[in-house]
Amino acid sequence: MTSTTVPSITAAKGRGEPLVMITAYDAPTARVVDKAGADMILVGDSVAMVVLGYNDTLAVTVDDMCHHISAVARTNPRALVVGDMPWMSYHVSREETVRNAAALVRAGAGCVKLEGGKKRVEAVHAILDAEIPVMGHVGLTPQSVNALGGYRVQGKDLDGARVIVDDAIALAEAGCFAIVLEAVPDGVARMVTDSVGVPTIGIGAGRHCDGQVLVWHDLLGFAPPDRQAPKFVRRYAELEIAATQALEEFVADVREGRFPSSSETYHMADQMAAGLGMYGGMTVEPSNA
Ligand code: KIV
Repeated sequence: MTSTTVPSITAAKGRGEPLVMITAYDAPTARVVDKAGADMILVGDSVAMVVLGYNDTLAVTVDDMCHHISAVARTNPRALVVGDMPWMSYHVSREETVRNAAALVRAGAGCVKLEGGKKRVEAVHAILDAEIPVMGHVGLTPQSVNALGGYRVQGKDLDGARVIVDDAIALAEAGCFAIVLEAVPDGVARMVTDSVGVPTIGIGAGRHCDGQVLVWHDLLGFAPPDRQAPKFVRRYAELEIAATQALEEFVADVREGRFPSSSETYHMADQMAAGLGMYGGMTVEPSNA
């Protein structure tokens, strides 16, 4: 099967079949996402929260992202690998921005994603000048959690909605090949989708997007007990419960002597056992002791 390319993602706009992006952060999860047929694997900075146990995404670095991107890329997925640029990796200077984007590509990403609208246009130009495709991200931008005062739906009033539409248009005009729309009312998502010539990928943005993205752990029911899933999450499995039950069985099997069984054991040949002074699984004292 041929690999998914950036131009093929952009060309999917308006084709009718929505694009699918799912996050993954390591080799086994990337394999599953790819086998399931997703178009894009997002190695998101959400790794900070869902894998590394932080309360927000601000702690992860370019090195952290490269570590996870390379694990995903080593599986040679058919899906396009999108590397998320972490907070402060594209905010300081043009040079640092390009160097950091290049680090993600060298780790195996086929493109990068960054958060923010008009104020990121310069960064988008710089990265595109280095021949690295860029995906935009507007609406709720989790790296702005402190500035926004929490994880809230964006664009609920007229001014907020206009800002999101203008931001998305600015990113598309700057050359982004697709734009993530996070936590915005469906009407705003529809306006953005109709206003830009590149695919919109929604998360909590309703059905009027050219594609959808969700986080692996939310889709499959891996979440910290104190975290309430946002309303846009649909759970397709309860893997944390299933994994806990499976491991409880293993714990009980070990403690009660049911594991390992004979068939799960490497047995020593009789001859060798005799040579070592062992008989019938019992150690016997050497005859000259
Ligand atoms: O990091 C991430 O998982 C994301 C998605 C929420 C789009 O940016």
